[in-house]
Amino acid sequence: MSKNPLILFEGIECSGKTTQIKKIKNYLKKKKKKFIHIREPGGSNNSEKIRTLLLNDKFNSASMTDLFLYMASRNENIEKIITKNYHKKIILIDRFVFSTLAYQHYGMGIKKSFIEMLNKNILKDIRPDFIFLHVINLRILKKRLKFRKNNNRYDKFSLNFYSKVQKGFLKLLRNKKNMKIIDSSQSISSNTKEIINKIEKLL
Ligand code: TMP
Repeated sequence: MSKNPLILFEGIECSGKTTQIKKIKNYLKKKKKKFIHIREPGGSNNSEKIRTLLLNDKFNSASMTDLFLYMASRNENIEKIITKNYHKKIILIDRFVFSTLAYQHYGMGIKKSFIEMLNKNILKDIRPDFIFLHVINLRILKKRLKFRKNNNRYDKFSLNFYSKVQKGFLKLLRNKKNMKIIDSSQSISSNTKEIINKIEKLL
């Protein structure tokens, strides 16, 4: 295991990923560790432009179009940011390859092997070292989505869609040794502690 791991934060909307990443960034800053933080879609300059397009309410695109845009955004990150920093700095990523499988395959029905083939070609030898999968109870999700400011195009699917996506994440990740489930019904601080405990072991 590298001392500068590539760590993923995955999970459906409102599951607490972004809150936890903020806490982990503060922790790493205090410890004076070198790290990079990327969100997907987004990250590099070009990827942020793709994000703006993809998540715009008025961008009425087909699911296959979205798939290629998510992949294009990822490819820019790999080429411009991730490859040169891989195992040299800690890399935290808010969503990555498992989000594409969960949303575009389990949620939208695009063939899994096709998405896996694209991911494999883009990632080459890059592998996540650890994955925190954030899960949320769907009743709580319903409430949180209602109160969320600036809802984007992907915040507006049915609860049934998010349920399929969350089940997809669990299918993809449940049996992996290098992953931990973070249950957002627990307190934010206890989840932060759990994540930090694990990261300390990885460093
Ligand atoms: P978020 O960054 O605010 O969570 O919004 C990003 C949205 O994009 C979220 O609904 C999940 C979705 N998404 C996919 O559908 N496929 C992907 O590959 C990625 C990275 C995100």
